[in-house]
Amino acid sequence: MPESPGGGDAGALPLTTGEKNPQSEEAAAVRSDADPPVLSKNAQKKLAKQQRFEAQKAEKKAAAKEQKRREVERKRKEWEESLASVTEEEREKLLESRRNLRKERMEKRSQEKENKRERLSVAREQGQNVVVDLQFSHLMNPNEIHSLVQQIMYCYAVNGRCASPAHLWLTACDGEMDSALKRIPGFDKWIIEKENRSYIEALCDRKEDLVYLTADSETVLEELDLKKIYVIGGLVDRNRWKGITLKKAEEQGIQTAKLPIGNFMKMSSSQVLTVNQVVEILLKFLETREWKTAFYAVIPQRKRCQSDSEGNAEDTIEEEEEQNDNVTASKKKCIEEVPSNS
Ligand SMILES: C[S@@+](CC[C@H](N)C(=O)[O-])C[C@H]1O[C@@H](n2cnc3c(N)ncnc32)[C@H](O)[C@@H]1O
Repeated sequence: MPESPGGGDAGALPLTTGEKNPQSEEAAAVRSDADPPVLSKNAQKKLAKQQRFEAQKAEKKAAAKEQKRREVERKRKEWEESLASVTEEEREKLLESRRNLRKERMEKRSQEKENKRERLSVAREQGQNVVVDLQFSHLMNPNEIHSLVQQIMYCYAVNGRCASPAHLWLTACDGEMDSALKRIPGFDKWIIEKENRSYIEALCDRKEDLVYLTADSETVLEELDLKKIYVIGGLVDRNRWKGITLKKAEEQGIQTAKLPIGNFMKMSSSQVLTVNQVVEILLKFLETREWKTAFYAVIPQRKRCQSDSEGNAEDTIEEEEEQNDNVTASKKKCIEEVPSNS
């Protein structure tokens, strides 16, 4: 386990793309304050791989943006041409039908928002309680905190779309994490339990119902129990802090459990999943009551395999990077779905 929290000094090493470099902990770990960075061969390879990955990601993003711009432009032209090619009367009709379409779409959207609010309010009273424990912000670098915030946005968006959502909690929501979350547009309107105390304080009267989910537990989760409160470590650490949540739960004397992944699939890397994958799996399980369905729906294909090969930290790095791409894609949706006035 690394000695100093936040040892990952992201951004300290230059990247070709000028983009974020959340994986530079290893490089940072091998240099001292006085010396210029000295990288081991392994670290150089990892850094080069990371740089290639970031460059490809930036290229893909730019290409997608350009394609979207072209598509918008094509549609606009098409529309203008169709307006120009008709009589004044037909033009009026076209404009009118477009206005109606827009109105319908807006009404549909606001109805959906209303339904979502309703579902989340019901979940507050009767849903499965799921806590994201945010007491680890001091162990993450700014990129990792950013990544966690995106994962939380994703969790909120996915939960809101569920027919029977869970009741999500964010505990120890203070300091850096709180500031980062408050920067999400509309965060103050989220229907979620925002709690600045830790879960152990806020839920002290239900301590025996707390179950910390951790891949390091020896207990395998078999069912979800509505009476229990499942806690997920709000941590993006490339498993640098292996075992930290298990240790915390054991010290606090609360139950722990790991997802029964091994009963249903073999993984090409470790069984440590990201926060949003775990939340999604729980939600899928609540919907289907089938772990297998939940795992296959959420765990990416390339994380599964037929062999028993051991996972490594690098897999987790890429997992989280790719996850962030998905999260970014859903980020806009999440912001759009924020109730305008709750
Ligand atoms: C990225 S992991 C953090 C890993 C961290 N080193 C730890 O010790 O928990 C984020 C959280 O997701 C949950 N999690 C991830 N994989 C899990 C699994 N296979 N079973 C149960 N919980 C899991 C845990 O709550 C974990 O803290």
